[in-house]
Amino acid sequence: MGYSAVLRIWLVLLAIPAKLLDCLGLWKPLAIRFFPYMMATFVADFCTCLHPYKKKLFSRLPDFAGPSGQLKVLELGCGTGTNFQFYPRGASIICTDVNPHFQKFLKKSKAENDHLHFERDLATPGENLSGVSDASVDVVVSTQVLCSATSVEALLKEVLRVLRPHGAFFFMDHVCADHSTWTYICQKIYEPFWKCLFAGCNLCREPWKDLEKAQFSEVKLQHMWLPYTWLPVRPHIVGYAIK
Ligand SMILES: C[S@@+](CC[C@H](N)C(=O)[O-])C[C@H]1O[C@@H](n2cnc3c(N)ncnc32)[C@H](O)[C@@H]1O
Repeated sequence: MGYSAVLRIWLVLLAIPAKLLDCLGLWKPLAIRFFPYMMATFVADFCTCLHPYKKKLFSRLPDFAGPSGQLKVLELGCGTGTNFQFYPRGASIICTDVNPHFQKFLKKSKAENDHLHFERDLATPGENLSGVSDASVDVVVSTQVLCSATSVEALLKEVLRVLRPHGAFFFMDHVCADHSTWTYICQKIYEPFWKCLFAGCNLCREPWKDLEKAQFSEVKLQHMWLPYTWLPVRPHIVGYAIK
């Protein structure tokens, strides 16, 4: 069965019971345990369709290596570690994630990506990277994380603090559709259930507005639609912003 069929069944069968449990405060502890398994199984198929876009985006990473030629990357919300395969050989990685239940999958992904040096793991949110010094990393990466951050504005402020001058923030995320489209209506209908099933993921965010407002010297941002007709996560932004 394809991932879109599994996702539809998941939405139809679980949405209402999950929302009811959520109203009683019982769903969140279950969702944070479920979510890493979903990301590692059927959502992983969805992530595969992002590979060509990621390959193109991350081909720019070596441009931001430090004077020694080594690239120091801080990845926000690593999840199962789907981005490691796109990082250049020898790059040094700091992983962050707020959900400790991803660790099992992250460990596997680290073992499969021995072309990288994994410096350390942080359990802190992108909005508070207190374990990372000012101007200490070349690149910060965030893919499908701005949708669930508590505050995109606070997260970008922290990104700017930890980036060295002329370092870059690489991002890719699903976003709110144009308000005149059917996709936007779908997003509005799905949103309360989606947020609950996908551990706080928002369908109707407009993070490009925060990126434009933040104090980056240059923002290279592209809007694109993924080629799947029903998915409410079709509209995406992809690009990088330079400090
Ligand atoms: C949809 S998953 C994406 C995982 C991975 N970046 C990818 O593209 O496959 C979102 C990830 O962000 C993490 N996350 C959510 N809010 C976060 C925050 N405020 N700071 C850091 N990570 C966060 C979640 O625990 C999860 O691992």
